[in-house]
Amino acid sequence: MKNAINLKLLARLCFAAMPVFSGFVGSQLWAAPVGIVPYMANCSSCHQPKGQGSANLAPKLTNRIGKIATFDDGRRYMLSVVFNGMAGRVVVENMPFLGVMTPLGSLKDEDIAGALNYIMSLQNMPQIKPFTAAEVKAARSLPKKSAPQMTIERQKLIAAHGPF
Ligand code: HEC
Repeated sequence: MKNAINLKLLARLCFAAMPVFSGFVGSQLWAAPVGIVPYMANCSSCHQPKGQGSANLAPKLTNRIGKIATFDDGRRYMLSVVFNGMAGRVVVENMPFLGVMTPLGSLKDEDIAGALNYIMSLQNMPQIKPFTAAEVKAARSLPKKSAPQMTIERQKLIAAHGPF
């Protein structure tokens, strides 16, 4: 009985680790979660190394974007933030931000997917579907959005599924 439970637990842990460990580069033996490199290079200066955010600079992402990623319009929203950037007032967990995120569409599809997946891997939600490069590529060809359009998209998302 005890063994059966342990096996179940092991299976769940393996599943949880899948998106994290499937991104090993070549012969690297150290256990770097997938996407940590593009995240650290392109996002961490504002959102901080563990996605915890920083007052007056950029909102927290960890323990938030996993939930957003469970909705199709949430996934589209996050990718459109990366491609269009974002500016204007947002309030996250009662903390207001009046920040500017520059568009980061110059990054490769797999790096955008990886950066978002890295933050989601810090959240204990194995049911989250990781972003794929193909999903990012499809979002890349969508029409560009202005900052006010992005603000409206965010408000609609929160009204439909929030708070985040
Ligand atoms: C120059 C600083 C900066 C960098 C670099 C940056 N961001 Fe942002 N990000 C922000 C700010 C500021 C906001 C909130 C925008 C606002 O205040 O209107 C934001 C918002 C977001 C949001 C939406 C959060 C929400 O609550 O709706 C996501 C998702 C996001 N960033 C992901 C990323 C990812 C992924 C990267 C790296 C590929 C990245 N950001 C790089 C500053 C940055």
